[in-house]
Amino acid sequence: TCYRRPGTPGVGKTTLGKELASRSGLKYINVGDLAREGQLYDGYDEEYDCPILDEDRVVDELENQMSEGGVIVDYHGCDFFPERWFHIVFVLRADNSVLYKRLETRGYNEKKLKDNIQCEIFQVLYEEALASYKEEIVHQLPSNKPEDLEDNINQILKWIEQWIKDHSS
Ligand SMILES: Nc1ncnc2c1ncn2[C@@H]1O[C@H](COP(=O)(O)OP(=O)(O)OP(=O)(O)O)[C@@H](O)[C@H]1O
Ligand SMILES: [Mg+2]
Repeated sequence: TCYRRPGTPGVGKTTLGKELASRSGLKYINVGDLAREGQLYDGYDEEYDCPILDEDRVVDELENQMSEGGVIVDYHGCDFFPERWFHIVFVLRADNSVLYKRLETRGYNEKKLKDNIQCEIFQVLYEEALASYKEEIVHQLPSNKPEDLEDNINQILKWIEQWIKDHSS
């Protein structure tokens, strides 16, 4: 995955997204995988040594499914998606020490480790979410330990249930 875009990798987005999809019956989409499969890239970033996401093509690719609804979207950025696509946005947060260990296990070099931890320290993704969506729908969730995952899933499942109640009549 390319981390040229600011946003913290390894916080647990995919783990949460997939588990949530299997327990809620909602559809799960991983934007990084989608881009790779469809080669939705626009050039190459030499400094970060990764392809540059073609955001417009990603949006076009997802539009039909997103207007149908019932989709969980997993990505480490959120400012290029249409605001109308989302009823709720979750930003996962992990403590620096936890994140450091996770990224170290992936074999990230010192610079990449430092850049990504910095990104979490400066709450880059949370700020991006707040700038892109209404404050009321942006939520931060802790993602340090397995119990956090379980709590988050249960909380989101409750929210989904309530949303369905509120929107059926
Ligand atoms: N709540 C949690 N407690 C403990 N470990 C977790 C938790 N959530 C995820 N992990 C672990 O952290 C690692 C990274 O998780 P995951 O791949 O879901 O992150 P990600 O945000 O999707 O990363 P990326 O940005 O690279 O796609 C995995 O080894 C996963 O098992
Ligand atoms: Mg992932």
